[in-house]
Amino acid sequence: MTSARVTLDPHRAVGIIDRRLFGSFVEHLGRCVYDGIYEPGHPTADADGFRGDVLALVRELGVSTVRYPGGNFVSGYRWEDGVGPRDERPRRLDLAWHSLETNEIGLDEFALWARKADAELMYAVNLGTRGIAEALDVLEYANIRSGTRWSDLRVAHGTPEPHRIRMWCLGNEMDGPWQLGASTPAEYAEIAAKTANAMRQIDPSVELVVCGSSGAQMPTFGEWERVVLERTYDNVDFISCHAYYEPVDGDYASFLASATDMDHFIETVAAIADEVKARTGSDKDVHISFDEWNVWYQSRYNDVEKITDIETWPIAPRLLEDSYSVADAVVVGNLLISLLRHADRVKAASLAQLVNVIAPIMTQPGGGAWRQTTFFPFAETARLARGTALDVRVDAAEYETARFGRVPVVDAVASLDSDTGAVAIFVVNRSLHESATFEIDVTMLGGMSATSARVLSDVDIHARNTREDPERIALRDLPVQRVDERTLEVTLPAVSWAVIELRPGGMR
Ligand code: AHR
Repeated sequence: MTSARVTLDPHRAVGIIDRRLFGSFVEHLGRCVYDGIYEPGHPTADADGFRGDVLALVRELGVSTVRYPGGNFVSGYRWEDGVGPRDERPRRLDLAWHSLETNEIGLDEFALWARKADAELMYAVNLGTRGIAEALDVLEYANIRSGTRWSDLRVAHGTPEPHRIRMWCLGNEMDGPWQLGASTPAEYAEIAAKTANAMRQIDPSVELVVCGSSGAQMPTFGEWERVVLERTYDNVDFISCHAYYEPVDGDYASFLASATDMDHFIETVAAIADEVKARTGSDKDVHISFDEWNVWYQSRYNDVEKITDIETWPIAPRLLEDSYSVADAVVVGNLLISLLRHADRVKAASLAQLVNVIAPIMTQPGGGAWRQTTFFPFAETARLARGTALDVRVDAAEYETARFGRVPVVDAVASLDSDTGAVAIFVVNRSLHESATFEIDVTMLGGMSATSARVLSDVDIHARNTREDPERIALRDLPVQRVDERTLEVTLPAVSWAVIELRPGGMR
């Protein structure tokens, strides 16, 4: 048994937690859209063909924004293919995922779905095979009320109200050699700057996300951010970060510490942005949109390369359908802790992705929908992390990892809702073998009582929810002990994620 202690200090505020931190991502990829959110004929489908069981789970997950329509897909996408009468929409080769795109779902349908899901739509434009003109067209189609070529077309298609999309991504992962139209930093900086400038002529209120690196391991990481921001700084609001984690060669000790890497990634990108700010004399900050993050077993599967014969590219094949374990969920919970710890800089984030594709929600065509293990830490954090993120001080033992050096066994962050006084503490025990007593010192908060606590763990850290056993893993209540007038204590099992809720009032 190891032990850790956290001190909660309301004066150690990191920043206001933007609800957009709890966003997700729907790409035209595999069965995310088709057989995922959309399955006309499914017993729970509504009149628009959207699965009601999936919509209910998305609402329960508490997703604030949804990035759409890609991802790699967007770099070959013609948005006009997906609007207007369905029977006139073309089928296209999707070069990113070797699939056939039917275009049954496009911007208008997805905007409708997002409204039903109580989520805000965040839209990515194609700067891979297309450019400024098409970005302007789709912005006009989406955000102008009427009276112009594209807005009138939207009205004619049966959507009188503009979609009023606030956040726009200027392409996707343009540094990646796998990306259609992959660019050098200078090439991308140029088209991103011109597109941003042009889009603001139509709608000055849009919030623009310029592409950062598609991972901190990219050879151009750092240089890319610097060159791109130097050219675009005053015209963009966010720079993106993307990161996916998986155990390498069974090294779970490092895998469980993946959030250390996310911390470092965020801090590096923020430092580069601040350096550009200083050199350009700008008076505004560029925030981070961590618009792709998750656990993804990229090395385990290479489903896409198996789809070779272009004559028979499938519609909505099963791609990237990772099944998540308890250990994966603990890492996801810890990545959320990292995002909250940087709430001053990370003002938007998207768990990639939402349904079936590296997703917290899985579906069976014609059958059920279920929560993966990763659903739980996301839903709880989205529900309870309100107000201000607190930079808590955790005193914990450290352990050695092959990939990230020495890291604390226990990692935590807290939120404080100044309206209600409610505090939530999110914590992980990364130890593979030892449980941890976790003491919470609430002296500086005044009298607080624990209202409830829940934990995600299992004796089998590889246990998961499946179609056959969809409720194998769920949250369990975690007993909270009162140690003395100023201290509460919980016991965190090995490889666990937990949340503890406190409210003002006497200790209990
Ligand atoms: O989320 C899966 C893929 O990962 C996205 O399409 C791409 O942007 C990233 O490489």
